[in-house]
Amino acid sequence: MRFKCWKRYLLQWQVCLMGVLWMGLVFPEPMFAQQQKRHDEPSGICPQPRKTVTAPDEYLKLKNPLEVNPQNILAGKTLFHIDAKPTACKVCHGISGDGLGILFHRVDPKPRNFTCVHTMDDLPDGQLFWVIKNGSPGTAMPSFSYLEDDQVWELILYLRSFSKKE
Ligand code: HEC
Repeated sequence: MRFKCWKRYLLQWQVCLMGVLWMGLVFPEPMFAQQQKRHDEPSGICPQPRKTVTAPDEYLKLKNPLEVNPQNILAGKTLFHIDAKPTACKVCHGISGDGLGILFHRVDPKPRNFTCVHTMDDLPDGQLFWVIKNGSPGTAMPSFSYLEDDQVWELILYLRSFSKKE
């Protein structure tokens, strides 16, 4: 009688243990797979095809007159994420500058991926300045002509920080 009781007790434990093991095998799997995917995902489109109109020569010669310091970068960052009108840059260019903002799927050509060294290293400061001021006609890139020159340069300091090699 006593022995039977023990057997049932052991059986219940076995079932319980199997259940826990089974859950452990089934559920962490998709969680793990998701983490893997996020980790392996390339950061945006890179190298990125680019058909943007080239800025006039007098712009291409321009160099960013601002000092690379935390205050100037922060000013650019604030414009990028919050203050720029009509729409903050992050909506298209993404919070990490990879071009995968929430409007990514809605626009074509795709927003520039500022994390892509291949693309960004070939673009002079003056080209970025000109496009921010004038927009890129025929694309979703609006003109931010209302910004002061210094604000545009602050933005450019911040954009460059996305493709800095650590
Ligand atoms: C509504 C979407 C949208 C917003 C908002 C936006 N952009 Fe863009 N941006 C684009 C797209 C699309 C392109 C690609 C244009 C092209 O291929 O000609 C682009 C391209 C650029 C380029 C690349 C220029 C080049 O010559 O390759 C720069 C620099 C840029 N954007 C800066 C900004 C900044 C700074 C802001 C915010 C002040 C901003 N963008 C806001 C969509 C956007």
